[in-house]
Amino acid sequence: MLSVNWDTVRLFLHVLAATVWVGGQITLAALVPVLRRLGAEIPRAAARRFNLIAWPAFGVLIVTGIWNMVAVRSQLHGSYLTTLIIKLVAVAISGVTAALHARAKSPAGLAVFGALTGISALAALFLGILLTG
Ligand code: HEM
Repeated sequence: MLSVNWDTVRLFLHVLAATVWVGGQITLAALVPVLRRLGAEIPRAAARRFNLIAWPAFGVLIVTGIWNMVAVRSQLHGSYLTTLIIKLVAVAISGVTAALHARAKSPAGLAVFGALTGISALAALFLGILLTG
């Protein structure tokens, strides 16, 4: 059995939070059509419940992300740093558009901010893998 160390714990928490933030959005989006058939207010009620775990997960991503940066600080230069900066822009877009999506009143606002949240979250995920690849 391989030995567990703090890098294991750090990446486990980071990836776990990423599965909630990214995977949760994809799952909720897939459920919306059937939830809508149950009642106009049901999708929003489900989204509110998801937010109860989504935002703490986003918080864990930021805290473990900073921990990641400390752990790999010797690599924070050149193309690695450029990739990380692009990733952090994607993370910021994902957080801001998620907040705007939660407050959106119009179907267009819900759709546009929801799509931007999902696309930027997927970009952050891909860039995260690129960093460790
Ligand atoms: C939506 C938000 C985020 C997602 C989906 C995400 C996803 C990921 C994933 C999947 C990995 C690869 C883990 C592995 O291969 O074991 C990773 C690595 C990394 N992430 Fe994130 N991340 C997010 C936010 C952040 C933030 C906010 C920071 C910095 C403050 C950050 C910094 C890093 C660093 C430095 C690594 C490389 C860690 C290493 O090589 O040990 N991430 N991220």
